[in-house]
Amino acid sequence: MVLEALDRAVGEDAPVGTAITAAQKGQASPTMVPAARYTSPEFAAREIERMWPKVWQVACTVDHVSDPGDYFEYRVGPYSVLIVRDDDGTLRAYQNVCRHRGNALCTGAGKGLSELRCGYHRWSWDLRGRLREVPSRKGFGVLRNDDFPLFAASVDTWGPLVFVNLDPEAMPLLEYLEGAPADLEWIGFDDFRGEALVTMDVEANWKVVADGFSETYHVQGLHREMIASMDDIDAPQRVWGHASKSSQRYGVPSPRFRGGLDDQTVWDSFVITQGMRMGVAEVGPVPERAEGESLSDVIAARIRATSAEKGADLSRFDTDQMLTLHQYNLFPNSTVLVTPDLLSVLSAKPGPDPDHAEMVAIHFRRAPSADAPRSEPMTVALGGQPADLGFVLNADVSVAPAIQRGMHQPGFTHLALSGEEIRIINTHRNLERYLGIDPSDMTGGPADD
Ligand code: FES
Ligand SMILES: [Fe+2]
Repeated sequence: MVLEALDRAVGEDAPVGTAITAAQKGQASPTMVPAARYTSPEFAAREIERMWPKVWQVACTVDHVSDPGDYFEYRVGPYSVLIVRDDDGTLRAYQNVCRHRGNALCTGAGKGLSELRCGYHRWSWDLRGRLREVPSRKGFGVLRNDDFPLFAASVDTWGPLVFVNLDPEAMPLLEYLEGAPADLEWIGFDDFRGEALVTMDVEANWKVVADGFSETYHVQGLHREMIASMDDIDAPQRVWGHASKSSQRYGVPSPRFRGGLDDQTVWDSFVITQGMRMGVAEVGPVPERAEGESLSDVIAARIRATSAEKGADLSRFDTDQMLTLHQYNLFPNSTVLVTPDLLSVLSAKPGPDPDHAEMVAIHFRRAPSADAPRSEPMTVALGGQPADLGFVLNADVSVAPAIQRGMHQPGFTHLALSGEEIRIINTHRNLERYLGIDPSDMTGGPADD
């Protein structure tokens, strides 16, 4: 029903354009980005060498490492970082390498560490990274413990998210995230608890995956079921530097439907795409409304009621707050999707070659308060098995291999980006900074004035 209504209502001349930053409104011609950035092994190697060891990345949730002795190994490309909660409760991170002959100290995640002991020849460090024990020490001659601490990496948190940066001298995380944390302060970010971390292989460059979560232009193409219950046009975007943002209002039809849509169609679309937020699995008649109540009010009330059943009181959030999805893109590879009742973080990491990536989806639930108890999230590595991430995300993931194949076609030398795709353009500008591409080899874009 939704699709039929769409095909009737959306014509070739549907309004386009999105309220975006002033700088991008004036794009004079498409921003052209070299496709080789998505396919070239040399480009991928340069990312590994210059970018990945220098950027803050979402590694896991606070719930993975909440108690002393908890650890979580974060891998990206060839790098492995060990995140550890030490005996004093301080989060620490180390390059995951034994200083004797290079063995990894730990793999996976777990609890109850009291030391970091290499399994090969049993050198051992305390959780603060100080060398404590070297079996048969005499054979080394003079070996001072102080000369062989673990190599520190940077670690910090934003709400329930743990970030790492391989660079021990990295700028503070809060500075890197720029305006994002203050922008989200109203929501009570610390109330969220990590529930599941799912990793899966995707046959596409990591940027193909990340780009898919950096614009809403594709909603009218790939997620047609959604635009009957989402304003994909008046979705303001904001770009700081490493961080950027888009906000989208749900529970209303896209302005692409000139003259609007009837409530039943909007309701059906919301149920199909996000019904679980209301605890509704199947489409049915639109609920009765009280005098003066909009369909949005009804949807918001149902979401609040569903959250209340799980112990989270969201009565302080109004209809607009309940139904606006805030999407933060954090350079290079993560998207934080958040409303008062839901939080998901999607990240894309490089795979073994430029045509493969690993996608990480972290789902959270809202606890009654910031000091609610924590439990260890479920951690699932699916490899190449198909994942069910829900109706909308499944579509995003399934289109990626076709895009990657397209990137290899000889005629396709450049992506042609709209000003509406400012967050993808921003990713490429940041990439150029980290990789030292100067002058830029992107062309077009804003008028020079
Ligand atoms: S490699 Fe770790 S103790 Fe030898
Ligand atoms: Fe999508």
